[in-house]
Amino acid sequence: MSLQLLEGLCKAEMDAIAKVSPQSSSKIVKIGAGGDKTKLIDVVAEEAAISYLSLVGFEGRLISEELGERQFGRKEYPILILDPIDGTTNAVRGIIPYSISVALSSGKCLSDIFAGLVMELPSGRTYKAVKGEGAYLNEHKISISPPTPLRHALIGIDVNVRRDKKKIEQILPLLIEAKHIRVMGTAALELCYVASGSLDLYVDNRDLLRVTDIAASYIILKEAGASVLCLDGSDLDSPLSLSERVSLVAGSYKLCIEALSKIKRL
Ligand code: IPD
Ligand code: CA
Repeated sequence: MSLQLLEGLCKAEMDAIAKVSPQSSSKIVKIGAGGDKTKLIDVVAEEAAISYLSLVGFEGRLISEELGERQFGRKEYPILILDPIDGTTNAVRGIIPYSISVALSSGKCLSDIFAGLVMELPSGRTYKAVKGEGAYLNEHKISISPPTPLRHALIGIDVNVRRDKKKIEQILPLLIEAKHIRVMGTAALELCYVASGSLDLYVDNRDLLRVTDIAASYIILKEAGASVLCLDGSDLDSPLSLSERVSLVAGSYKLCIEALSKIKRL
């Protein structure tokens, strides 16, 4: 039932963004609640999601990257956490992939999330999970790759440090040790690639990710058997608030610990 709602919302977004011309998609419309410049494609996607939620009579609270928070009906829960487009830069520059990330929570923290769905675009492949029911890519059950030493691993990492040289210095030993490295520009989806075993590990040490970027992937990773850790090695949990910023490593526990041993303390 929950997944049907999330799937319907993604399809509504997909139909709406298909109508946006490549030339106009990058037009800056406003500054979003998350603090970034909101592009036309973000607004079109978010408005399609809102129309869909109204149409199906959703009741609860919406936390969405561009508009912030909105109440639907009177119920406090569930909270629906949405990134209408994750990887906007890819989307407006014609680079594949980008994604839609949407999750449902019964409480105020990441660990209260009970369903999540990330749709890879433009392919439409969906990564999804419901708490206690496993993680799926379309209809196929997925799980993380077997523990691999870093020197044999394919890792995803975000190196968009926005002139913060220290953040690069911090992960340099990790970059040197890993066998293969990918930087794809859509954290929500890269985390799902860890859940399916396509990537062995994902690392972001920048303290820039928002809960909207990771909420859906968080439950998908957990259901696929991944550890999702803070840089101090503790389990990641965080309030569902747009003002939160997180860093994380996600993958098999063993590989996460090896990766953390290669990340310098600041
Ligand atoms: C971005 C993507 C990207 C990451 C940024 C995020 P957005 O999301 O996840 O991979 O580097 O920090 O903000 O802005 O396209 O929704
Ligand atoms: Ca976004």
